[in-house]
Amino acid sequence: MKTSSISKFYEKSLEERLKILAEFASLTPEEVSNLQKLALDFDTANRMIENVVGTTQLPFGVATNFIVNGREILVPMTIEEPSVVAAASKAAGLARASGGFQASSDDPIMIGQIQLVNVADTAQAAKKIMEKKNEIMDFANQQDKVLVSFGGGVKDLDVRVLKHDGKEMLVVHLYVDVRDAMGANAINTMSEAVAPMLENLSGGKVRLRIISNLAVRRLARAKAVWKKEEIGEDVVEGVIDAYNFAAADPYRAATHNKGIMNGIDSVVIATGNDWRAIEAGAHSYAAMKEEGKYKPLTKYYKDGNGDLVGEIELPMAIGLVGGATKTHPIAKIAVKILGVKTAKELAEIIASVGLAQNFAAIRALSTEGIQRGHMRLHSKNIAVLAGAVGDEIDAVAKVISDEKKVNVARAKEVLDEIRKKK
Ligand code: MEV
Repeated sequence: MKTSSISKFYEKSLEERLKILAEFASLTPEEVSNLQKLALDFDTANRMIENVVGTTQLPFGVATNFIVNGREILVPMTIEEPSVVAAASKAAGLARASGGFQASSDDPIMIGQIQLVNVADTAQAAKKIMEKKNEIMDFANQQDKVLVSFGGGVKDLDVRVLKHDGKEMLVVHLYVDVRDAMGANAINTMSEAVAPMLENLSGGKVRLRIISNLAVRRLARAKAVWKKEEIGEDVVEGVIDAYNFAAADPYRAATHNKGIMNGIDSVVIATGNDWRAIEAGAHSYAAMKEEGKYKPLTKYYKDGNGDLVGEIELPMAIGLVGGATKTHPIAKIAVKILGVKTAKELAEIIASVGLAQNFAAIRALSTEGIQRGHMRLHSKNIAVLAGAVGDEIDAVAKVISDEKKVNVARAKEVLDEIRKKK
């Protein structure tokens, strides 16, 4: 049976890793070779943005051990920071005893905002707009018949009266089911299309017509139970203490949420999605969970058995159609590795990775600290800087990290000693 629990994946050679991955995700030889070479050619890159002169590469790894809603999953992660992939894999491994992650998500409803200024009577204008709600929604839906044919389109509309600096404005919200898209294009097109109607009805002037990244109607959630026998009672208590710290203090909540985003952004980037949109949504949601406070996006508590329960909830505006997901060759492979068919499924996996990443970070922070693990990985870079090659890298790295002397000078001494013994 297919499993994401692959023993010592990190110790395997590149060839072995690729063989396992190719089998797991039925990758073609071309996809496997694309993973290793520069997979973004100039023409593709030049179509993606303007003034292209090159491309930036980042490591693409896979986290092991994930089970999400009963399905074994290898998670592609694109990130420059050491330890993130290892930590996610570790946390997912520790959750396997209780079946991994249970995740769910809302329908993919995004919000389009249309701002109207210089409205003489905002209450009256809001009433007029609401009376014509169905006509406005119909007109918006005519802009994207394909989306409507797939069951998407505008589902609701409302009007808000906002005030700033002594001035009132009307803001119309279009609630659009964007199906498997991130949704920005559909939303912005519809918002621009209905703007003249709204101008007429309100007697005001249209200003902004744009998506809101605070996608509160498109939340993804995940939950996992870490058994006390698996992680130890001190870790159960430690993680809850860490959560309480984040819940009580925005300075800590910012870092707590940053750890969550290490996992989330990695998958969002690997799959070619807009990580700035996800970041904006996550942090604005964290700031609105409780009036006037910035809160952690996860929570932890003990269940009746004394096991640790972790939960996450955040907006997840990601897509599988449009954008780089379909044009970037590596993003296409990432989606194939995940085996997802809908944006909802992808959102649920991403939420699970965010929870896993956070658990791993606060588990380490509340017990031994993260520096030992970080240094173990960092020591390999230092060994290379000291001139180690091949087997020497691991040998030097082990000595300097065991000695807690992770610096180039000591790495050079150790390397000399190893070479003398050869
Ligand atoms: C580092 O990238 C992320 C952490 O700081 C997260 C946290 O403190 O929870 C380790």
